[in-house]
Amino acid sequence: MKEKVFIGVAWPYANGSLHLGHLAGCYLPADIFARFCRMNGKEVLMVSGSDEHGTPITITAEREGVSPKEIADRFHKEHRENMEQLGISFDLFTRTSGDFHKKVVKEVVKKLYEKGFIYERETEAFYCENCKRFLPDRYIEGTCPYCKYEHARGDQCDECGKLLEPKDLISPRCKVCGGVPTPRKTKHLFFALSRFENRLLEWIKDKHHWRSNVKKFTENWIRGGLKDRAITRDINWGVEVPIKGFEGKRIYVWFDAVIGYLSASMEWAERTGKPEKWKEWWKNKDVKHYYFLAKDNIPFHTIIWPSILMGYDESLNLPYDIPANEYLRLEGKQFSKSRGLAIWIPDILKKFDVDPIRYYLSINMPEHRDSNWRWDDFVSKNNDELVGIYGNLVHRILTFSWKNFGRIPPAREMDGMDKDLLKSIEETLNNARKELERCSFKKALREILSLAQKGNAYLAYKKPWEIIRTDREKCETTMHVCLRLAKALAILLAPFLPFSSEKVWRYLGYNDSIFSHSWDEALDDIENGMELVKPEPLFKKLSLEEITPEDPFSYLDIRVAKVMKVKDHPDADRLYIIEVDVGEKGKRILVAGIKKFYRKEELEGKNVLILANLRRAKFRGVESEGMLLAADDGKVVSLLIADAEPGEVAGIDGIDHIPKDVIDVEDFKKVKMVVDERGRVVYNGKALMVNGKPVRLDRKVEKGAKIF
Ligand code: MF3
Ligand code: ZN
Repeated sequence: MKEKVFIGVAWPYANGSLHLGHLAGCYLPADIFARFCRMNGKEVLMVSGSDEHGTPITITAEREGVSPKEIADRFHKEHRENMEQLGISFDLFTRTSGDFHKKVVKEVVKKLYEKGFIYERETEAFYCENCKRFLPDRYIEGTCPYCKYEHARGDQCDECGKLLEPKDLISPRCKVCGGVPTPRKTKHLFFALSRFENRLLEWIKDKHHWRSNVKKFTENWIRGGLKDRAITRDINWGVEVPIKGFEGKRIYVWFDAVIGYLSASMEWAERTGKPEKWKEWWKNKDVKHYYFLAKDNIPFHTIIWPSILMGYDESLNLPYDIPANEYLRLEGKQFSKSRGLAIWIPDILKKFDVDPIRYYLSINMPEHRDSNWRWDDFVSKNNDELVGIYGNLVHRILTFSWKNFGRIPPAREMDGMDKDLLKSIEETLNNARKELERCSFKKALREILSLAQKGNAYLAYKKPWEIIRTDREKCETTMHVCLRLAKALAILLAPFLPFSSEKVWRYLGYNDSIFSHSWDEALDDIENGMELVKPEPLFKKLSLEEITPEDPFSYLDIRVAKVMKVKDHPDADRLYIIEVDVGEKGKRILVAGIKKFYRKEELEGKNVLILANLRRAKFRGVESEGMLLAADDGKVVSLLIADAEPGEVAGIDGIDHIPKDVIDVEDFKKVKMVVDERGRVVYNGKALMVNGKPVRLDRKVEKGAKIF
């Protein structure tokens, strides 16, 4: 029987589009690994799905004024399509709102309750008098008790990654109304995490193969003491609680989601017509379970999920490895849905082929430290490596062979160089396999790429285009070796670049899928006489110009700034000299002509918006380092303001934030922002937002007022 591998991949929230951070964080590495395992004779079960419950969904729904179901349906559909387009080869990508999943969650909860691992406890939960309701974790914000980050959520601090309970927060606030919530008595079910401490420690002991960040994070967390955790919430969107007295509550989204790994395996088995088949992965101790996720998900997979499994059914397999990735950043900044600081998968799929994206994310994968998506780097890695080293090599080999022979030519006498190249294939295969087995994707890809580089050197030395005129047989041998190399590269790269590997396979004359072949076949000879297919180039060169957006808004760097001090300009009646704090961008001096409209006291302390990358200019001898943004309808002038921290970026949904270092007034004038009938600042009909909220106006101005 084939060896089996289980691969669980973090379930994306169905509250927004996927971005490149998601892809680099877990879906791409999981897929590379799955394809690698399958091509190495293993039977893989890889599952995931949309995470559709909890406050991440309800908050988005409330913001848009639609039902949570509508949000979940919309993004589940989009996620599914995107996963398929990206070639993420799930055996099942399902959803947590499905009946199958809910049934399994309820079973698990009931059993844990019967065994005493889930129990009832009266607690205090935050109640907002203003909103007249108990506040779920994500509706509460406050200061993190560990790292003092001021915007920690009630369930987790995004800064230091610690899991929190709302009551841990210092100075909690209601996220909806900003009010101070007060604790009130309520009843919840608790999961007895504390009782798994020893068993977890025991289980982790031999996990020497774990990435060090994963191991350290988990050990520290356990050492800090495990606390029982509430697993129900006062909310009406989620899995119903199958225990009497909890009818009005729902299961906590994380508790429900991780159970998805098991429920999806069962659902997959049922769909394939063999409902018991999931057990072959879950109840056979020899099957290794891998979980792919980004670092903020670590404790749920190394502590909570294993504890649930241990408590629910001892015979189920625990995770074997959890190669969590660090973050992918965008030009040095953290991807963030709410700040519009992201490259969305649906957008990028419209602009580029999938394999170049997969290539760049693989060679640049945030395995051990954060890495960056940089557009110029994407272009140069595409052009110099993917096209320059691999694509061109294969294309030259294929076109030359197709033109001159039409078929795979036979190899005759091989010389030392030919044999060396074939030996390199074997070495590369072995090295890359070792790296891939330990989920070291970047290194594996580097290995394979250096084989392509050897191929280029071989070709440059052998010069088949010259030899063909003098010694056709020798040329045939050379090209036979080259075609073997092309075949080997296509196989070795298939887990990374599935679409182009399939293409090479077809050009070589095969008419099945490369994925029905094994990695070891990279070492096999190629069939003499097989008819070649007219090849097309595998990849295109890119230029930075064609990538950089046509939309001039992208170039602007609009930031929130706090007004610190306002002085009169000594040499101009109309001007103020304003000192602002722009958070990460530091302090700035602005010269602004709003003296006629604002008194100094009105300005001081306000969080205004500024254009932070406008070319510096002197106004009557004082240099201005940016421009204050205001709306003007001809009568009233109003500043643009935002309820957000200094330094936050203002953006527009669907437009990339790729600010130039410096722009000129002309660049800014191309962007026509106006005030609409609802008092929002819009550009091409879409609202200017900070942190998920529309930018506000300080005073009422007429519709059509222009921003300057
Ligand atoms: N939806 C979560 C996130 O995006 C991940 C859930 S992973 C699972 O952070 F384990 F719960 F499935
Ligand atoms: Zn923190």
